[in-house]
Amino acid sequence: MAAAALIVLLLAVAAPAFHSQTASAAGTAEKETHIKVYWQDVYSGPSPTAVVVAQAATTNTSKTSFGMVVVIDDPLTDGPDLNSSRIVGRAQGTYIGSGKDSLALLMNMNFVFTAGKYNGSNVAIMGRNSIMDDVREMSVIGGTGVFRWARGYAQARTHTFDLKTGDATVEYNVFIRH
Ligand SMILES: *[C@@H]1O[C@H](CO)[C@@H](O)[C@H](O)[C@H]1NC(C)=O
Ligand SMILES: *[C@@H]1O[C@H](CO)[C@@H](O)[C@H](O)[C@H]1NC(C)=O
Ligand SMILES: *[C@@H]1O[C@H](CO)[C@@H](O)[C@H](O)[C@H]1NC(C)=O
Repeated sequence: MAAAALIVLLLAVAAPAFHSQTASAAGTAEKETHIKVYWQDVYSGPSPTAVVVAQAATTNTSKTSFGMVVVIDDPLTDGPDLNSSRIVGRAQGTYIGSGKDSLALLMNMNFVFTAGKYNGSNVAIMGRNSIMDDVREMSVIGGTGVFRWARGYAQARTHTFDLKTGDATVEYNVFIRH
């Protein structure tokens, strides 16, 4: 009687664990997705998508923008020209001047897809963006929707940068395993 009860108890405890193990072992095969978008940082005009919300009190940091905080809701387009390309999503988040003696931003943003097969899904990107380098690599640290469990990396290349206005178009190639 005691032995039977013990077996029932063991099964009750073991069964859920066993079940969840098989579920993850039989989980869907991992995919690798490459997404290329153009990130449109707009300071100029009547409807900027990048706003400076904080700056360091000292002007001794202006060369590297150290201490500057920018909030963005930048269009992500399928081509480099913002006017004639399709908007496939938004880059929402912040970037922070985080290099005291070098020009390096800390990017912290979600790529929020609003069109096509990724509509409704997000990819979270965080990393160092040394903007004068030809290629900057950042981490993909997560995702939602079709990008659940995402990890990977993003490579950014400046397409155009307007020194006068600060407007920039940057090509992002994002490689995601999910
Ligand atoms: C800026 O800081 C450096 C040290 O980091 C100092 O030598 C220099 O005098 C400062 N310049 C100004 C204008 O305060
Ligand atoms: C896009 O349109 C704006 C406003 O109409 C204009 O000022 C800008 O020069 C255009 N940009 C390009 C690359 O054509
Ligand atoms: C994206 O998804 C939303 C919510 O489901 C929907 O309202 C919208 O029409 C979709 N956009 C496109 C371009 O498919």
